[in-house]
Amino acid sequence: YLQEVTQKNMSLLEERGVMFLGPEEGDLACGEYGVGRLIEEEKAIEEIDVLLRRSTQLKGKKFLITAGGTREPIDPVRFVTNRSSGKMGKYLAEEALARGAEVIFLKAPMNVPPPVRSHLIEVETAQEMYQEALRVFPEVDVVVMAAAVSDFYPAEKVEEKISKKERKELTLTLLPTPDILAEMGKGKEKQFLVGFSAETDQALERAREKMRDKGLNMIVVNDISRKDIGFGSEFNQVTILHQDGGQRETPRAHKRLISRAIM
Ligand code: C5P
Repeated sequence: YLQEVTQKNMSLLEERGVMFLGPEEGDLACGEYGVGRLIEEEKAIEEIDVLLRRSTQLKGKKFLITAGGTREPIDPVRFVTNRSSGKMGKYLAEEALARGAEVIFLKAPMNVPPPVRSHLIEVETAQEMYQEALRVFPEVDVVVMAAAVSDFYPAEKVEEKISKKERKELTLTLLPTPDILAEMGKGKEKQFLVGFSAETDQALERAREKMRDKGLNMIVVNDISRKDIGFGSEFNQVTILHQDGGQRETPRAHKRLISRAIM
């Protein structure tokens, strides 16, 4: 599958509009481990469903969707990050694409491949995400900030690997990163801003506060104290709050279905 010639042929087919479902990584029939597994039936059905539901509802609209978890370097080999898998952002992008939107997918490191038909921008740190997000901001209609942006980064820029020799402990000083959404909220004209809020308690109150403080139109709240949904999981259960007071709660469902409710 990874052979250059296979990849080239697949790219060509993709350019011609052929869509691929999968493959996945895992144990292969030949006894090796790698990329090349047929995707699970359930996933194939979902993907086909999205393709069949392709609509023009969002045609002409340009989205900026961020996903993944930023990495803040401690030294050249270590970093501070979080548990974001990037799945929610990926499914949101696929849903927007299926409805005819153009999507700029601004991605921090994540566990799943990014959506195929988006304009991909890859970053690593919160600062890089901030710069790229604000650069494309003037040209988009909707921003969905599904990325888990680190709130802090190590203050000291260390160029060499920190050694454990002669150290009993290591103290890191962390400084706040710029709040991308809040910055956009200040400078927005036409843009519809969607934020996410992950909290372990008082989830709704805190989310309402964030929506107000950051100047958002909508915020998606998930309760990350639950183990069966949220970070890393294929499933989620969210409450969607609107600026005008509207509120909608989804049942626990596959993130693909949750992304439909949000879109
Ligand atoms: O304030 P809090 O980090 O809980 O807000 C979460 C929302 O704000 C998410 O949508 C996240 O992507 C966004 N955010 C941001 N810039 C940061 C931190 C979070 O845009 N530095």
